[in-house]
Amino acid sequence: MCGIIGFTGSKNAAEVLVDGLAELEYRGYDSAGIACFTAPSAITTIKTVGKVSQLRASIPFGFTASCGIGHTRWATHGGVTQANAHPHSCGHVTLIHNGIIENYLSLRDELTATGRIPVSQTDSEIAAMLIDSLYTGDAYQAIRDAAARLEGAYAFCILFADQPDTIYCIRKGSPLVACHSEIGSVIASDMVALLRYSKDYFVLSEDQIACLKPEGITVTTLAGEAVCPEYQTVTWDVSSAQKNGFKHYMEKEIHEQPDALSRTIMPRLSKHTDNDCCYTLPDLSADGIPDSLFENLHRIIITACGTAMHAGMMGKILFERLLRIPVTVDIASEFRYQNPILDENTLVITVSQSGETADTLAALRLARAQGARTLSIVNVKGSSIARESDHVLYTHAGPEIAVASTKAYTAQLSAFYLIAFRAAYALKKLSAADCAHLTSQLLTVVSDIHTVLADKAVTEEIGRHLIKADDLFFIGRSMDYALSCEGSIKLKEISYIHSEAYAAGELKHGTLSLITSEIPVIALATQQDVLAKMISNVKEVRARGAFVILITTEAAVVEEGLYDYRINIPVCEDLFAPFSAAVYLQLIAYHTSYLRGLDVDQPRHLAKSVTVE
Ligand code: AGP
Repeated sequence: MCGIIGFTGSKNAAEVLVDGLAELEYRGYDSAGIACFTAPSAITTIKTVGKVSQLRASIPFGFTASCGIGHTRWATHGGVTQANAHPHSCGHVTLIHNGIIENYLSLRDELTATGRIPVSQTDSEIAAMLIDSLYTGDAYQAIRDAAARLEGAYAFCILFADQPDTIYCIRKGSPLVACHSEIGSVIASDMVALLRYSKDYFVLSEDQIACLKPEGITVTTLAGEAVCPEYQTVTWDVSSAQKNGFKHYMEKEIHEQPDALSRTIMPRLSKHTDNDCCYTLPDLSADGIPDSLFENLHRIIITACGTAMHAGMMGKILFERLLRIPVTVDIASEFRYQNPILDENTLVITVSQSGETADTLAALRLARAQGARTLSIVNVKGSSIARESDHVLYTHAGPEIAVASTKAYTAQLSAFYLIAFRAAYALKKLSAADCAHLTSQLLTVVSDIHTVLADKAVTEEIGRHLIKADDLFFIGRSMDYALSCEGSIKLKEISYIHSEAYAAGELKHGTLSLITSEIPVIALATQQDVLAKMISNVKEVRARGAFVILITTEAAVVEEGLYDYRINIPVCEDLFAPFSAAVYLQLIAYHTSYLRGLDVDQPRHLAKSVTVE
């Protein structure tokens, strides 16, 4: 998704902007640009197709400025061209934009009739033309009038040529965070770009206008009332958002999972006395999640996108097993247009690492509008989904920079386990003793993952084999099917190898016809209750020549001729197998991508946070 940064203050603006864009590269982009005041009423724009490093190289030696805006573009409207790169200018106005203006075509027709001729194919340039057409010297009024005309999502940083050293910002749907420090005022798409200047920041709320000047930031509502922004403090340090010696962010984040899980689980455990016995149980009260949230529920709907949705698939299995409440998992982009049947006896759980995914945010808003109870599982503090949910359980995975989600996924899993165990205890579906036992087993996954990370050599060997594949299948049953879906997206999004996840029992209903000699099949068989059936499915693909990578348990009795590689996950109860099996799948995907010489952290066409539909 597009990266945005704005700065006005005492440092060289070009340096601050380009450094900030470099921090935002992980969001995914294809072009970059900056626009700075180079004289009281003169704005100079420099933009390039390609990487931020190419933008940096194109800035003339000696270029100095104290105020400007910068942007990395993830193309939505119009191809990847210099003309379509941001910033965009029209008359007095120069702006950068993250989002989609849905009525830009009608606005373009109206504005071109006034003689303004677009030079790009973008909706963002039309926004600049609109604001310029409304500007008569009062920036706030022009922005207010434009906001009344614009439909869709946006985060704008706007320069008005006759207002040097000043940046105006407004957002609707797309995120903006800001801080003020001794160097001046900074605003960006997310905290990673502000961290080097301040750990204290605020999130600009919807339909508020921020005015950044070197001496400070003023915030007003669209109606013009002054607002005192609610500052937050980042709990992680700059190094958390760096590679710290790993080759890639993804590799680092895979290795951070034990810490991410500990930070997510431990603060939610407390001592509880029941029948004169003391137990360690999940306790969500400090997160403001009451046991009453789970009372009188007729249905739970889990809705998310991508990997977050796959975590939800595991949540469904947990909730249905332990709570005996019907659960459905919906892709958020489908849910929001299905006119779902919701009421106060429905709990809608949204899952999102970034907390800004447009489809998931829209699903949450629909759920609230229809009176459902809402709970979100989110990794970014203060993000839109977190702020708009009735309740939020934060994962404490720390900043996840790689586009491929790893530590956030297993942290989301742990959040589902905590919620399921607490709810089951609260609803008397689990005794204190049984809940305490399951909780203690959840804690062991931290050491299980350490064991997997020490055994990663085999995943590189498997990756070396897979780099030649054109197609690949993941098969599993029950929890292993949910995990197969995650393994498949992890591999294809960073290795560009087509893969599919299949419920193993479904193969013979069609897909088996695609199994040919040497086609790789990653078979997950960690669940004892369906192991025999799973082995039958492995025999089916083996009989047709598949190259089988079996991820199972030491206890599983499987003929050696059925597989080419066998990985035994650390010994654990079946319920907790997904954690270590997931890490093996992440490592296989990582090595396959790296060995193919691809950009592991920023795979083509993808963005870290999809803040547009
Ligand atoms: C995960 O590897 C993908 N990058 C993607 O599927 C991601 O999980 C999805 O876009 C949802 O993002 P979110 O968790 O920030 O909402």
